[in-house]
Amino acid sequence: MSLYPTGVCIIATQIETQAPFGITVNSLTSLSLEPPLLMWNLQKSSDTYKDWRDAEFFGVSMLRIEQAHLAQRFAVRGQHDFEQGELARGETGCPILEECLATFECKLHARYEEGDHVIMIGEVLAASPRSDLAPLTYHKGLYGSVDTGRVLNQATNDANRGRR
Ligand SMILES: Cc1cc2nc3c(=O)[nH]c(=O)nc-3n(C[C@H](O)[C@H](O)[C@H](O)COP(=O)(O)O)c2cc1C
Repeated sequence: MSLYPTGVCIIATQIETQAPFGITVNSLTSLSLEPPLLMWNLQKSSDTYKDWRDAEFFGVSMLRIEQAHLAQRFAVRGQHDFEQGELARGETGCPILEECLATFECKLHARYEEGDHVIMIGEVLAASPRSDLAPLTYHKGLYGSVDTGRVLNQATNDANRGRR
């Protein structure tokens, strides 16, 4: 799967009065438009696994290239706390980061334990995209970005227009 290029997110939640926490994730994918659902996978070996069992809401912060340091930090075992002033609240109160490529505020819709991972499905309550920013990508174990000026020819793209 490391050959499949993805974006990178920090997914964060807060359980009752505990401190919010986040984890670096590249398994995010869209699931349904009606209702609007997205999903991601949590490894059961994560330090955060037990806490995620009690999560009712979560915020997805899709990172831009300048936020690679956050992806690195939230991928360190046992390191899931936000620094002072780093975390914002979305319109529903979900923990999100500011100045991201996009944020999604989700209510936990379902979770399925499969193999050594848990599929976390969220219903999107609010979305805030910023198409002018360059994404942080992950490919072959390396962080990078895409050259948004490089697209395939128009015929290829016209054939696909409106499908997604
Ligand atoms: C680019 C990248 C993507 C990752 N994607 C996921 C993911 O989708 N699901 C997951 O559970 N862990 C993922 N991880 C691993 C966690 O971020 C990392 O293992 C974890 O936060 C650190 O261990 P801990 O959760 O046990 O403290 C990813 C790590 C990196 C660097």
